Amino acid sequence: MREDFGGQVALVTGAGRGIGEAIAIAFAGAGAAVIVNDINGRAARRVAEGIVAGGGQALALPFDVANETAVGAMVQMAVEELGQIDILVNNAGIEPKSPLLETSLYAWERTLAVNLTGTFLCSRAVGRVMYEQGRGAIINIASIAGHRIPLPDRAAYCASKAGIVGFTRECAREFAPHGIRVNAVCPGVIETPMTAEARSDPKIMRKWLDDIPVGRLGRPEDVASMVLFLCSGNAGYVTGQAIHVDGGKVMA
Ligand SMILES: NC(=O)c1ccc[n+]([C@@H]2O[C@H](COP(=O)([O-])OP(=O)(O)OC[C@H]3O[C@@H](n4cnc5c(N)ncnc54)[C@H](O)[C@@H]3O)[C@@H](O)[C@H]2O)c1
Repeated sequence: MREDFGGQVALVTGAGRGIGEAIAIAFAGAGAAVIVNDINGRAARRVAEGIVAGGGQALALPFDVANETAVGAMVQMAVEELGQIDILVNNAGIEPKSPLLETSLYAWERTLAVNLTGTFLCSRAVGRVMYEQGRGAIINIASIAGHRIPLPDRAAYCASKAGIVGFTRECAREFAPHGIRVNAVCPGVIETPMTAEARSDPKIMRKWLDDIPVGRLGRPEDVASMVLFLCSGNAGYVTGQAIHVDGGKVMA
């Protein structure tokens, strides 16, 4: 059942650290050439250089996924360099925290722009390439916060992630006749820089652990292995789903 992505090209957004980094490394380890996108150029280059140093193939493309022109340039450069894009992982995300009454319009719009519009822009640009190829797999990283469990003081984040789940279903239906599967992965609490501040609070940690049946927080690799499975032929009949990777925190 080991997934083999030899000869395939995977574009992972927000792959300069955290979950995206783990997904990029996992695809490279399974033989794919990886396009490492991140708005932080230094972080993207660090991950791409690490993959190349380990014998893999990677290209760092530091662009803002919320910028339509930048996304177009990124996809064009990726295709010029690597000839195809078989897999897109829309992972880039931000999670600003503030009570609703103190949330600025800018914070609201930027969160939706990166998390939701970025997913749309990359799916549209890469979708055009995949239509030509007649095949592809897209994974959108949503969150349990977009599906079942609201996160306090993060209205824009929750709205953006719920939007991603709805977008995933529509996109899956539209792209299926073109050989393209589209799924969402909804992580629970994962040990990344995004959750570092909350993890340093023992009260929050205790509450989280009480709510997670498997008794631990998730690791970026837990999310990466689900992403690889969903992109593989082993999941060839799975599309339009939103799958929780959360240690059982949410049960359907
Ligand atoms: N960590 C968790 O517990 C958790 C839980 C559920 C969902 N998620 C989701 O998983 C994804 C990754 O989360 P993480 O914990 O690794 O976050 P992280 O903050 O550690 O990493 C996110 C990466 O995205 C990049 N990024 C931000 N804005 C960007 C933009 N406009 N264009 C390109 N890159 C951009 C950042 O520079 C960063 O490297 C996010 O979509 C997040 O919402 C995380």
